[in-house]
Amino acid sequence: MSENTFDVVVIGGGPGGYVAAIRAAQLGLKTACVEKRGALGGTCLNVGCIPSKALLSASHAYEAAAHHYGAFGVKVGKVEMDVAAMQGHKDKVVSDNTKGIEFLFKKNKVTYIVGAGTITAPGQVKVTAKDGAESQVTAKVIVIATGSDVTPLPGVEIDEEVIVSSTGALALKKTPKTMVVIGGGVIGLELGTVWRRLGAEVTVVEFLDRILPTNDGEVSKSMHKILAKQGFTFKLGTKVTSAKKAGKHAVLTVEPAAGGAAEEIKADVVLVAIGRKPYTEGLGLENVGIATDARGFIPVNGHYQTSVPGIYAIGDVVGGAMLAHKAEEEGVALAEMLAGQHGHVNYDAIPAVVYTWPEVAAVGKTEEQLKAEGIAYKAGKFPFTANGRARSMNETEGFVKVLACATTDRVLGAHIVGPNAGDLLAELVMAMEFGAASEDVARTCHSHPGLGEAVKEACLAVLGRALHI
Ligand code: FAD
Ligand code: NAI
Repeated sequence: MSENTFDVVVIGGGPGGYVAAIRAAQLGLKTACVEKRGALGGTCLNVGCIPSKALLSASHAYEAAAHHYGAFGVKVGKVEMDVAAMQGHKDKVVSDNTKGIEFLFKKNKVTYIVGAGTITAPGQVKVTAKDGAESQVTAKVIVIATGSDVTPLPGVEIDEEVIVSSTGALALKKTPKTMVVIGGGVIGLELGTVWRRLGAEVTVVEFLDRILPTNDGEVSKSMHKILAKQGFTFKLGTKVTSAKKAGKHAVLTVEPAAGGAAEEIKADVVLVAIGRKPYTEGLGLENVGIATDARGFIPVNGHYQTSVPGIYAIGDVVGGAMLAHKAEEEGVALAEMLAGQHGHVNYDAIPAVVYTWPEVAAVGKTEEQLKAEGIAYKAGKFPFTANGRARSMNETEGFVKVLACATTDRVLGAHIVGPNAGDLLAELVMAMEFGAASEDVARTCHSHPGLGEAVKEACLAVLGRALHI
């Protein structure tokens, strides 16, 4: 095989693409990954999951020191926030992580090609470097993992300084006095939390009648109350009809989604966070006749095959949950299929976590979905107020809710609002993966005192025999 000829060429070095490339190489396939950003890790490592969590951790530490340590008897004096140092922490975390992927590529003998990939024909990818130089890569299989980009709001121009997307909101140099977030979803609440903790007055304008509209209804309600108590202002059932830059500020016009009187809101920073859209610009899909669906996603079958033999697609660009771990699972499954193995992703057991505090973690069906699908279920709920560890941590907000089949007791869904909810959810994801019953989790010994006991108790509650409530 010549230097530019591979078994597999992956276009896009995000969690879908880089993981597919590593797994394919592990399985003995000669693999290259083409990435145009100049750094590996995609949206997630560069402008998504990792930088947002670095800012969430830093702002959490500030808020805890400023407002919560006193309750433990810890006296810290005047607490101040150095936003530039916080951004420095974030940049270092991002750079360490992206360089880590380069190391993993070397270790696994994946060829990293820097440049924009364009499919010119099946098995043929043209790579254009930043300086315009072109090269050609040939491969038996092309994997598209080009991810997603911010969904724009018509009539609202993002300048990444006053009117920002998540990328601009991750890079603000100072804390705005006022911030309006358009969209009460994951990005809006996570990045709204970062800047609220540092002192911004945050107003969330949400088109629907609740925040986190895809979560379980009880979770949305609970988080609305908790976040309002933290200082968030919510304007639900409200649409933004315009947002214009006016000097160093922005002026938004909003009105009730159902129609009614318009109102103006001024803000130092406006964050547009109304979802993400698949990214296929410059990819050359038209050269091979791959049509996207009405929303721009690339249609694939159960084996991630596009309509063209030898061209596959995974991750955000194919739709479904736009989550890094979902993209990674697809990357592994596809690589294994390409190597003749039986890769598989269980889409019923994909966790989703919102890293506010308390965190929100969910897997499987919501109560609303079970009702709509006519599935008989039992619900078990346990509040953190009744958990000894949570009390000792002063972290008693939230609950664990487990939904199980009324006849088989199999776990169908789980929803947690609480401290470290994301980590606590893992055992329930595992339970669903193994087809376990709520009684299986309830009969498993959990260490005491632990937050995990709330998970056990919620499962006991499904059976009608919680011990501590
Ligand atoms: P991407 O990560 O988008 O990677 C695609 C890559 O392809 C990009 O680097 C792009 O430069 C490259 N590319 C595109 N076209 C070409 C081309 N023609 N040639 C070469 N390269 C190309 N998910 C979570 O699970 N947990 C989180 O906490 C989380 N937090 C997030 C926070 C924010 C602010 C955002 C915006 C997203 C967050 N996500 C989170 C979502 C997560 O980032 C995505 O689901 C994930 O990155 C998708 O992976 P992917 O590989 O499909 O695509
Ligand atoms: P989202 O889909 O989570 O939320 C968008 C919100 O905007 C919804 O509540 C929607 O009803 C609302 N909305 C839509 N149009 C609107 C309008 N015109 N006016 C007002 N509100 C409007 O999308 P978000 O927050 O932009 O995140 C994008 C993706 O990134 C998500 O799919 C998510 O999976 C991923 N992500 C994941 C994170 C995590 O796993 N912790 C963190 C951040 C992002």
